[in-house]
Amino acid sequence: MNTELIRKSFRERFGHAGELFFSPGRINLIGEHTDYNGGFVFPGAVDKGICAEILPNGTQKIRIQALDITDEPAYAEFGLEESDKPSMHWACYIFGVCREMIKRGVNVQGFDAVFAGDVPLGAGMSSSAALESTFAFAINNLFGAGRIDSFELAKVGQATEHNYCGVNCGIMDQFASVFGKEGCLIRLDCRSLEYEYFPFDPKGYRMVLINSCVKHMLGNEYNERRASCENVVAHIAAKHSGVETLRDADYSMLQEVKAEVSATDFSRAKYVLDEKERVLAVCDALKVGDYELVGKKMYETHWGLSRDYTVSCDELDFLVEVAQQCGVTGSRVMGGGFGGCTINMVRESLYDSFVSKATREFSLKFGHQPFVYDIVIGAGSRKL
Ligand code: GLA
Repeated sequence: MNTELIRKSFRERFGHAGELFFSPGRINLIGEHTDYNGGFVFPGAVDKGICAEILPNGTQKIRIQALDITDEPAYAEFGLEESDKPSMHWACYIFGVCREMIKRGVNVQGFDAVFAGDVPLGAGMSSSAALESTFAFAINNLFGAGRIDSFELAKVGQATEHNYCGVNCGIMDQFASVFGKEGCLIRLDCRSLEYEYFPFDPKGYRMVLINSCVKHMLGNEYNERRASCENVVAHIAAKHSGVETLRDADYSMLQEVKAEVSATDFSRAKYVLDEKERVLAVCDALKVGDYELVGKKMYETHWGLSRDYTVSCDELDFLVEVAQQCGVTGSRVMGGGFGGCTINMVRESLYDSFVSKATREFSLKFGHQPFVYDIVIGAGSRKL
């Protein structure tokens, strides 16, 4: 990404130069809402993310300029004590990362920073994880002598969401942002945290995101989905000791508790069990290059997310329907849902006609253009 503007703004505001750090956003091929259920996910980092220039300032104060924030004041100053939590939402991510690093024994001191990004905000591409990972990585480098390992850096971002931003998210986004590798997806087992890089270059296909521009902000509705899953697990665990997450459960266990849980909780848990099977089927399909099967599973995930997990919206369902009509191999809502992007696996020969039909028909129906991004799988957190 172009770092000139960051450099220029830093010099203008703080009068000197700092060091540049970058972390990416992510895509996820399949395995949605499985991470906090102990399941598998299949993300990859993208070539877009958040970049920050940072320099310790010899005080106990953080001074930060955000270049892309328009809905809140874009400059923040705050201290490092728990009671210093800033009022701006965007600044809470950085404050949370500082606090979580302090909890892990890092001697965080005051610093000046300017940051900007090219990963769209609220598009389901994890701009917030990119922001957290950028600052966690930088603070580890500047104040922690690199002592905190990459897993823990991902957990710092996740804990920031839980403790300072009100989202009880899983580990997928922060993990993908820190561990990303060029050209590779990562199959992550969210129970054991074992992971494997899968080179991903589907010959004859293109991967494209279509951003509905319905801005999503994960919060209560996301947390409610997680609570439903945990409620079903509590009922199952009362009958089957050893079941700690839906990863450990199967369809017969779910049937056993059907009468005890709400219809909503039941549907949500059923979606998670279905998705668990789909991710494993996709792993096998990828090993033999069967992308048509991968695509079929993507559609199944979409309709599961839409009907059973209810995290889609009209705009996203419409984009998936247009993809289906065009004969696109696979299409689904990506990330937490409630807006953001669809991820599409499209045969090269169909790419142009699909993209133009989707943008034209979407604009006619919803009155605004969706954005289209070709996916490039990039590397994880780094110093530039
Ligand atoms: C958000 C969360 C992730 C994950 C996805 C859904 O991106 O941050 O932890 O749960 O939603 O798969």
